[in-house]
Parts: sequence; structure tokens; C-alpha cells
Amino acid sequence: MNILEIIEKKRDKKELTKEEIEFFIKKYTKGEVTDYQAAALIMAIYLNGMTNKETTNLAISMANSGEILNLSKELGKIIVDKHSSGGVGDKVSLILLPLVSSVGVTVAKMSGRGLGFTGGTVDKLESIPGYRTNLNMDEFIKNVKEIGISMISQTENLAPADKKIYALRDSISCVESIPLIASSIMSKKIASGADKIVLDVTVGNGAFMKDIESARKLAKEMIGIGNLANRKTVCVLTNMDEPLGINIGNTLEVIEAVEFLKGKMQEDLKEVVLELGSYMMYLAGLGDDIDKNKEILLENIKNKKAYNKFLELVEKQGGDISYIETLEKFEKAKYVEDIKIEKEGYISKIDAKEMGKIACFLGAGRTKKEDKIDNSVGISLFKKVGDKVKKEEIIATIYANDKEKLNKAKNKILENIKISKEKQEKLKSILEVIK
Ligand code: URA
Repeated sequence: MNILEIIEKKRDKKELTKEEIEFFIKKYTKGEVTDYQAAALIMAIYLNGMTNKETTNLAISMANSGEILNLSKELGKIIVDKHSSGGVGDKVSLILLPLVSSVGVTVAKMSGRGLGFTGGTVDKLESIPGYRTNLNMDEFIKNVKEIGISMISQTENLAPADKKIYALRDSISCVESIPLIASSIMSKKIASGADKIVLDVTVGNGAFMKDIESARKLAKEMIGIGNLANRKTVCVLTNMDEPLGINIGNTLEVIEAVEFLKGKMQEDLKEVVLELGSYMMYLAGLGDDIDKNKEILLENIKNKKAYNKFLELVEKQGGDISYIETLEKFEKAKYVEDIKIEKEGYISKIDAKEMGKIACFLGAGRTKKEDKIDNSVGISLFKKVGDKVKKEEIIATIYANDKEKLNKAKNKILENIKISKEKQEKLKSILEVIK
């Protein structure tokens, strides 16, 4: 077997065997297949697709490229993991995980960093002064045992093949592919030792899946892989046609998450958090009634148990909780400017992808893996599609550390919010649940 034959087969739209997929993954992880050969194969997969069997074999081979954790054995608990296929303003994990932990779901979560226009939970957590995301495995397990939750960054040896292939896909415009996304997400979930998995499959212009049909297909592929690997998987399809919640940017999103946990809940974010949380409870064996689960979750927002769990988590990971208790302590961007709308009407579109790109341009995200991010910059968007706006009303605030960037961002934001004279429907946050 050699890599040229494998590339040729996929180029010619033929099905790869399990052995061929394993050969590629092993050799590429070791550096024995070059980046240009891997790029050719990945592009052939992107263009010609994969059968369900190939996608499953790819996911399992990538999971096996590093260590496979067995957290439930280690912790003696059912581990329900959560993953999102990525979005703009997506601070769901920061809220959801302490919330479900406060009702008794064991949370042992490894998250990723942002890349491209989408944000990452690890970057957001690191904007809390002192918070350590790089705990070793013993510290991670110890924290979960002691307080029922830990949130860290993926360890180096967790699905290393996915790390290499994901970075390669990002550099050759091959991210938006169903078999590649399905195998990437599921390889990490299988390797990180989850027994059950809830996936937030984002749909819309700020997501990798632009329409509901593709999102359904992705969800079904991931559920199929989960079933074969004996990991029950539920997919919640959520809207990413406009940014989620209000804030985009690392510190800004932490602030919004803390305010949510204290009871100030933005409607779209609330719906997404409660839906995912209810299914996490269901899979953890804490309740079969999804609506009842939502009530229990809401109660733990009201009685501050979820907020207190977040404080406990931050403290345990070395973070300075005085920032959480007094949000004004977070470092502010040098320039803070409100944006007023120029005409009256109804919001008909807020381009999520463009908003993500603008936040990155201000410094909130990376265009290359090595880029340093600026935690204090970002955007607050106060209106949603369907909202009525008056002339001169403030619809957004920009946080920037560079005057020139601020001015450019301001124009871009205005260009990417469309106003219509006619009344507009609000967007639905939860599109579908697939089990
Ligand atoms: N998230 C992942 O983990 N992998 C992808 O390919 C896309 C989103």
C-alpha cells in the first residue's frame, strides 16, 4: 500500500478501505506522508465525498491516533460531553456546563481554540485572569472528582491526527465538508472518553453548514458514528444566521455569560442553552421529560446555584473570581464607540459570518494559529432580526484598541446590518432535534 495509490483512488471517486484510511492517518501523524500529499487527499475527499463507512473509519482512525481516555471508568460516572460545530458569539459552553453541573451532570470538558471567524471556549476562559486551561490529566480528574466540573484545553495527545488535518483543511479551504467535519468532531469526542454526546449543529451563514439539509446530513453522520462507537449521540440543530446573544469577543462573551448565569438571559441564547442542557440531563439519566428538565435548569439560574458553580470552577482552575464578582474589573478596550442606525425600519439581516470576521479584524480572533488575540476587543449587537429600529437608535457598540480599525469596523458593521421597511419574522433558535 502507498499514499499515491490512496490519493489516486479517492481522486477517481472510489471507496477507500479501512486499512487504507488507517495507513494514511498513521503515516500522516508520524510525518511520513507529506503535507502536500495529505492536502491532495483531503481535497479529493472534499470534492468527491465519502461513504458513511469511510467517514466512520476516518473518525475512528483519527481517535486512535493518540490516547483514548476512559473518563467514566476513572471517575465512576456517566460522562456526557457537548460540542458545537462552531459559530459567532457562541458562548454556550461557558454557561451550559456550569449550569448542568449544578444539577448533577458530571462535566469533564476539553475545548478548542477559535480559528477563522468562529470563536473558541479556551480563548474565552483564558480571558479570565489566572484561569489555567492547561491542567494535566491528574489535575483535571481531581477537579472533576472534587467539584463535579473541569474545563480545559484539549491535551496535545488527544486525536493528534485531527489537529494536523484541521490546520491543513483551514489552510487549503477544505473546512466545510460533511465527512471531514463529522470525523473531526467525533474523533475528539470518542478519544476524550465521553459515554454520551450532545452536539450543537449550527446552521446558517455564520456556521459551516449553510442550510438545513446539509446540517441534517452532518447530524445523521455523527449519530451513526456515535452509535457504532457505542456513544449515544443527540444533535440539536441551532440557528447561526445571526450571531448568538449580544456580544462577540473574548472578555465580552465572558461578561455576557456571567450576566446570563446571574439571570439576565438573552432569549436566543436562553433557548439554545436550555435545549442542549435538557438533553445533557436526559442522557445523564437525570430526567426523561425535556420540558421539566428545562424548568429545573431555570430554577438553578434563579437560585444562583449555576452562577456559584461557575465561581467554583474559575477558582479551582486558578482564576481570579474577583473579576467575575465585579465585571467592571476586566480590562477595557481603549476606544468604545456606539453605532447608530441611519434609517428606520425592521432588521432583516445581521450577517453572522461578517460580524465574526470584523471581531477577528479588531483582534478578537486569529487568522493564523500563531496570532496573539486581544481579549478586550469585540462588538456588542443589541438588536436581532425582526426588531424594530428608530433612526439614530444605538444598535451596536465597538470595542477597539486601534482607532483606524475602529473606523473600518464601524463601516463594515453598518454594511452588514440590513434594514427593511416591511415587518420581518424573528429567527427561530432551535431548528430541529435529531436523535
Ligand atoms: N469543529 C471541529 O471540531 N471540527 C470541524 O471540522 C469543524 C468544527
